[in-house]
Amino acid sequence: MLYNHECALDERTRALRDRAIAGLGRCCGQGPQVIARAPGRLEVLGGHTDYNEGFVLAVATEQATAIAATPREDRLVRAWTDCDESEADFDTERLDEGPWGRWWDYLAGVIRELHSEACSPGGADVAIVSDLPIAGGVSSSAAIEVASAIAFSTLAGCAVEPEALALLCQRAENEYVGMKCGIMDQFASVFGRAGHAMWLDCRTRERRLVPMNSDKARFVVCDTNKPRELVESAYNERREQCERAAAILGARALRDVDAQKLAANAELLDGTLLRRARHVVSENARVQAGVRALEAGDMPLLGELLSASHVSLRDDYEVSCAELEAMRDAALAAPGCLGARLMGAGFGGCVLALVEATAVDGFAAQVGRRYEAETNLTPDIFATAPADGAGLIPRESEEEL
Ligand code: GLA
Repeated sequence: MLYNHECALDERTRALRDRAIAGLGRCCGQGPQVIARAPGRLEVLGGHTDYNEGFVLAVATEQATAIAATPREDRLVRAWTDCDESEADFDTERLDEGPWGRWWDYLAGVIRELHSEACSPGGADVAIVSDLPIAGGVSSSAAIEVASAIAFSTLAGCAVEPEALALLCQRAENEYVGMKCGIMDQFASVFGRAGHAMWLDCRTRERRLVPMNSDKARFVVCDTNKPRELVESAYNERREQCERAAAILGARALRDVDAQKLAANAELLDGTLLRRARHVVSENARVQAGVRALEAGDMPLLGELLSASHVSLRDDYEVSCAELEAMRDAALAAPGCLGARLMGAGFGGCVLALVEATAVDGFAAQVGRRYEAETNLTPDIFATAPADGAGLIPRESEEEL
């Protein structure tokens, strides 16, 4: 079966589609044969638990990346993005000339992984547009991977099941791009659902959609606009430390360690490994508590869990930075804020705040002012609601025909 999920053509998706079509016309003088959309994700709870085979609670964002593509006669991919108006050319049969350390590595990595699924996309002209913050901790990388995997597999006429598609995108990032990420981002981008948060067991890949009512409280993304540096090496180092801690504790992964076992064996680990393990063990428990809080509609409790997660990521996992702290302090000081935490790899990027619905209006201005005064950086702050996962964008809606 071809990847056949179609996105609802709401206003935002239509705008993204129109930008992608215009982009493909401008860069390549072509109209699209396929247009795919993939959202980013909010990490509600479950920071750095996915590669420890643990639990996560994530949401697909309304903001997304769209790719318009059309086949070429040769083997070249000619890709263009309006994010920085840059363009790339690479040969789909000479992917070992990369990676180049640029955004098109995601495309090249995905094409290489499609080959391993017996799918051989030929050349294509491609335009990429996005309304996601780029490299900001909301998983713009999974969005470009998933959108390009859907676009290229559709052009090639290959049947790739959604779960296989998410996994091949993760492999592209692990093996081609070199970031040893877990599976949360790609799964959220593929399987997210409007009005729901997705609970995921990253070992068994069991998923459950938990309804989230945005009438009481809303998610607000606060982008520090602090460029993330050295994220990849620090991220891979954290992952390696967790694997070492698990091995010392005689566990397959930190997922298999609970607070009691960790306390009983604490003297086996050095200070750093003990802190890393303590974060992962406590974060897994927070994810499970977060699901219960959402099910009970207890938003203040969910907010407290977000805040506790942040403290653990800052003190035990050591992935925060001055700008994330300034943003989180500003968020917590604003009226109606129920909790706030850094999201994603860390070291910059975004804070996620849970804000009472009635307080969302004044929130951005107040938090922005305080953050800017403290850091001299201008942030981007926007509310978002859980949205649907990735799919093909219909080229025309019926009323447009
Ligand atoms: C990045 C990775 C994810 C996950 C988060 C931290 O977003 O891509 O797999 O590990 O960091 O939770």
